Amino acid sequence: MGLIVLGIESSCDETAAALVRDGNRVLASVVASQDEVHHRFGGVVPELASRRHLESIIPVMRQALAQADVELAGIDGVAATRGPGLIGSLLVGFSFAKALAFALQVPWIGVNHLEGHIHALFLEASPPPCPFVVLLASGGHTGLYFVSDPMRMERLGQTRDDAAGEAFDKVAKMLALGYPGGAVIDRLARQGDPDRIRFPRPYIDKESFDFSFSGIKTAVGRYVREHPDKQPQHVADIVAGFQEAVVEVLVYKLIRAARQKGCRRVALAGGVAANSRLRERLLRDAGTESMEVHLPSLPLCGDNAAMVAALGYRLLAAGQRGSLDDDVFSRPG
Ligand code: KG4
Ligand code: ZN
Repeated sequence: MGLIVLGIESSCDETAAALVRDGNRVLASVVASQDEVHHRFGGVVPELASRRHLESIIPVMRQALAQADVELAGIDGVAATRGPGLIGSLLVGFSFAKALAFALQVPWIGVNHLEGHIHALFLEASPPPCPFVVLLASGGHTGLYFVSDPMRMERLGQTRDDAAGEAFDKVAKMLALGYPGGAVIDRLARQGDPDRIRFPRPYIDKESFDFSFSGIKTAVGRYVREHPDKQPQHVADIVAGFQEAVVEVLVYKLIRAARQKGCRRVALAGGVAANSRLRERLLRDAGTESMEVHLPSLPLCGDNAAMVAALGYRLLAAGQRGSLDDDVFSRPG
């Protein structure tokens, strides 16, 4: 039969529940997006996010149970995101998971959202064998990690200011393209010329594995003020130029980090891993270095609870248990 773990994710603006068998077989994964709540504000409003989580959490879990054809009594363990994220949002999923596990008398565990994103890769049909170097790029975080074992991740570098996804969202907001901006820019950039407007490449310096995206965001803002022409082709060229600059730096640092680690395997994780230009350039550039590339399938890039259940299974199997005194945390630490 195997062991079924219920995963709960509520760190930002997605309420998600998933059932995963033995840490690698997704029986159901339900993600309720709150885009329509936050869209008109051009960003996530924390208070509204936690209220919506509260309304959605039970229906979303019930939907996952129905899809997997599993009863509540069939759950062997519970895992929920503990942080980093929005405190009010995290509290909803985390407290719910604690209470449910207590009521069902099953073990439970809180998991790190960033490690969860990386664990999404282990849910793929051909998961990356360790070691590998992964670029985790989401709306709240951007970093490079050397994964020597599924439970051992060494951070090689991270953003010093904005996350990559945040830069996409802010540029989209500047151009009134809507929220969340990443997917919109990705789509629009296909109609643009990535070389017509050249934005500075935010390398910091080429040796560093840290990132900085606030400069490019400012450069796009300045360009938009100086060139107010909002013709569709012009806007497409702006976003294509912006995307190209970000993607070039992300791919360069990922490949360089792998080379420095003597590692021939690279991977992407997090919401920005869905970016089609990023996937394309990584395949091309890592290919010329004869590196193996692992890309998560699109539903496993953005926030989901299958990754939480997969990581939770591994921690529970290693004997770790959550305590009812455990609290959520907002920062990566
Ligand atoms: O991992 P995720 O769902 O949530 C966080 O943990 O932050 O990532 C969301 C971020 C948003 O900033 C969104 O704009 C970005 O991922 N994103 C993309 C794409 N799809 C989502 N960025 C670039 N291209 C995309 N196709
Ligand atoms: Zn995330």
